[in-house]
Amino acid sequence: MLDKFKKIAAQAAINYINNKNINIVGIGTGTTIKYFINMLSDIKNNINGFVSTSISSTIELKKYDFHIYDSNEVDSIDIYFDSADEINNKMEMIKGGGAALTNEKIVSSIANKFICIVDQSKHVNILGKKYPLPIEVIPIAKSYVFKELSKLGGYPKHRKGIITEHGNIILDIYNLNISKPKKLEKYINSITGVVTVGLFANRCADIVITGNYDYTVSIINNTK
Ligand code: A5P
Repeated sequence: MLDKFKKIAAQAAINYINNKNINIVGIGTGTTIKYFINMLSDIKNNINGFVSTSISSTIELKKYDFHIYDSNEVDSIDIYFDSADEINNKMEMIKGGGAALTNEKIVSSIANKFICIVDQSKHVNILGKKYPLPIEVIPIAKSYVFKELSKLGGYPKHRKGIITEHGNIILDIYNLNISKPKKLEKYINSITGVVTVGLFANRCADIVITGNYDYTVSIINNTK
């Protein structure tokens, strides 16, 4: 149902690389990005290569014969395109619905510019009330991290049947009311056994492209 709004946002995002010579592009994970990769096939000659955040996105990129680099092979990533599970008006996000949060955090840290592509449903006033906050955790630390996260007032739940590309588990914290995302991101990252928290507040998006329910596209650009 939201797919048409994801597609119009993805199409608008293509303008940021079309007819430009770009060395390295970072690629996120999820259905929005799958549409974006498909649209990229028309402009591939302008891009040297891609750094992918997941096996699923790598498979999509390979369908079009794009060159893929390991993140350790590149000095920098010019632009990173990804979506989000929730985004607030400060361009802070919850990500990790696709369990690729660790790779997404690494690639967003390397990237000079982060363009977030969303449909209107992803916009919220306060992060965490609707969508659970994903945390990647080393398996033997599960009980300890669970207890520490419970103290925050939310309800952690083990995402069953999911092992990340790094061999870890995902805990989703439900019913959190995240009023201070930057502080909470740092705190959760400091808990022993936590690999990554899916809060992207200290490195938030630079540009947000939204496909609205009335078929318009809104762009918020923080880089100007
Ligand atoms: C992937 O781990 C997430 O961070 C995605 O950005 C998020 O789940 C968005 O997915 P959709 O594009 O499928 O809505």
